Amino acid sequence: MLQKREHCLLALIMAGGTVLCWLVFLCCSSDHPSVSVKLQSKQAKLMEPVEGPSEYDEGLTWRQVHHQVVVNHRLQSKQAKLMEPVRNDVLTITPWLAPIVWEGTFDPQVIDEAFRSLNLTIATTVFAVGKYTRFLRDFLESAEKHFMTAIEVHIHREAHYIFCLDVDMKFQGRVGPEALGRLVAAIHPWFYWYPRNQYPYERRNVSTAYVPLDQGDFYYQANIFGGALEDVHRLTKTCREHLEVDKSVGVEAVWQEESHLNWYLVKNKPTKLLSPEYVWDDARGRDAKEIKLVRFSSVIKNKAEVRENP
Ligand code: GAL
Ligand code: MN
Repeated sequence: MLQKREHCLLALIMAGGTVLCWLVFLCCSSDHPSVSVKLQSKQAKLMEPVEGPSEYDEGLTWRQVHHQVVVNHRLQSKQAKLMEPVRNDVLTITPWLAPIVWEGTFDPQVIDEAFRSLNLTIATTVFAVGKYTRFLRDFLESAEKHFMTAIEVHIHREAHYIFCLDVDMKFQGRVGPEALGRLVAAIHPWFYWYPRNQYPYERRNVSTAYVPLDQGDFYYQANIFGGALEDVHRLTKTCREHLEVDKSVGVEAVWQEESHLNWYLVKNKPTKLLSPEYVWDDARGRDAKEIKLVRFSSVIKNKAEVRENP
């Protein structure tokens, strides 16, 4: 009788232990690295490639979710040379080992081949409200030419990946599957030279989007972001909740959704970053020598005319 009770107890402890292990595992193996707010990390500089031994051996790891890359063996791709960096004018990897996508860092043919066989579907959201409908034609026509041409793109449907795009934008060059990742954001074209304390984050601590002066990696522009459905859902849900909390106390973050997006990405590091090639601004001209190819850019518009709230 005693033996039976002991057995039951043992089974109970084991079951409890298993559940606990799973919980710990689930908590620790989150899909992208979250970093303790107390960690004083050095700011990564987009225009200063890291040289010599890495200063970032903190060993952040996370569950690698990328699909296995298989390409047709007949594809004639250029050989990658370990001792010949493809770009030495810009940073191509973050301190948490996420790639930063620039022209020259990937082979478009290899990327297209690798992703074509995966039969992925990508959803996009584009909102054109009020006077912004005038941007829709150019946006859609340019998307047809340049956006994920190797992959089927669905507007608003069940999909593997989702991209949220601003409508007052135009595709100018390839934006392909090289932009896919679990959580993807693009570096703003106006601030990448700046020290982090001058990024236009929300700086008032009454807002849930508050970022202290000594935090943050890059300033991202909200005109394009995306990733796996689950990850983007978690991001938008959090931002929406924060927007509502702010609203309930009569606060609006300095750059609205963009401020909340930036707050989120300070805490939840993106797994892939798009260089400013992917979110250029036509008003910034074409003379930045690090920008070899403008792919997607904000069109010049008369803000006073199209915006309902100036
Ligand atoms: C502007 C852009 C805004 C916002 C702002 C941040 O160039 O038009 O949408 O991103 O930068 O300072
Ligand atoms: Mn816009």
